[in-house]
Amino acid sequence: MADEPLVLGIETSCDETGIGIVRGHTLLADALASSVDQHARFGGVVPEVASRAHLEALVPTMQRALEEAKVTLADIDAIAVTSGPGLAGALLVGVAAAKGYALAADKPVYGVNHLAAHVAVDTLEHGPLPEPAIAMLVSGGHSSLLLVDDLTNGVTPLGATIDDAAGEAFDKVARLLGLGFPGGPIIDRTAKEGDPASIAFPRGLTAPKDLAAHRFDFSFSGLKTAVARWVEARERAGEPVPIADVSASFQEAVCDVLTAKAIEACRTNGVGTLVIGGGVAANSRLRVLAEERAAKHGIEVRVPRPALCTDNGAMVAALGSRLVAAGVAPSRLDLPADSAMPLTAVSVAG
Ligand code: KG4
Ligand code: ZN
Repeated sequence: MADEPLVLGIETSCDETGIGIVRGHTLLADALASSVDQHARFGGVVPEVASRAHLEALVPTMQRALEEAKVTLADIDAIAVTSGPGLAGALLVGVAAAKGYALAADKPVYGVNHLAAHVAVDTLEHGPLPEPAIAMLVSGGHSSLLLVDDLTNGVTPLGATIDDAAGEAFDKVARLLGLGFPGGPIIDRTAKEGDPASIAFPRGLTAPKDLAAHRFDFSFSGLKTAVARWVEARERAGEPVPIADVSASFQEAVCDVLTAKAIEACRTNGVGTLVIGGGVAANSRLRVLAEERAAKHGIEVRVPRPALCTDNGAMVAALGSRLVAAGVAPSRLDLPADSAMPLTAVSVAG
């Protein structure tokens, strides 16, 4: 509908420069430039390299987004930008750009939470989110379970990882298997050839003694170590490492714990909708297992298409659009890049 707000979103929290444009719940453009290839040989994102790449990619990505949406900056009603959490230098590039564009074109600007944006992006594909919902955010930097009563107003954290994030575990295990970076998509592919039941890797924080204090928390560092020990033992014995079986069994351990806790969070809170976001939500096994387990309890699972799960500008625009529609005040022009922005802040207060 032409009277819905036209919102532009800028994402630069990690290694993707993303500019998205949405009208209401409709995605008009999603331009992306990734520096992932520049980090591959280091096995992880190098902050300075990422910042420099954002600087170079921002203006051309902006032009592509405006062309794709067939609008000009003057048509935009509001600019949203990831204020945090993320890499400080990388965030700064996006926040400075948003302020520049907002000042030049006299537009309101919203500094938004990257994690809330990972939840909001689903509305572009599946329409308004039924609230309350449980959101599970699984990315390279975060693994959290949240109760979402009103996404524009704040979310209630139920649990989070106490060590590695789920995506980090995929990246580290891929690295120790010599599979490359980022590890998630490679393990996802490799696991298709393997047997997920071949190796019994540990399910972190699922034992009765752990559940008392960590019912909705995750731990993946023990799993990563277990995989490393298992591989070392094979190598010491001079036996070949069955990469596909290790990948499949590791992936099964992660997806088993994630889905079990997410469904339990829905049931405990009497919530009928589970939305999954973040790069790991692109995982094919996670999607199938979540669907399978949720169906048994009449819970609806919403997962955006894989391209919207990983970092992009559309998710930031989607959250901006929700904030504008809810009448939330824009942020001030001195809004910060906040690398440790808490989940309880969906946007930077005006
Ligand atoms: O959300 P995202 O793009 O960036 C962060 O905010 O971290 O997530 C990136 C993470 C990486 O760790 C990557 O390995 C993981 O998401 N990932 C996957 C898949 N695609 C990306 N993990 C498992 N399976 C996938 N198909
Ligand atoms: Zn992300």
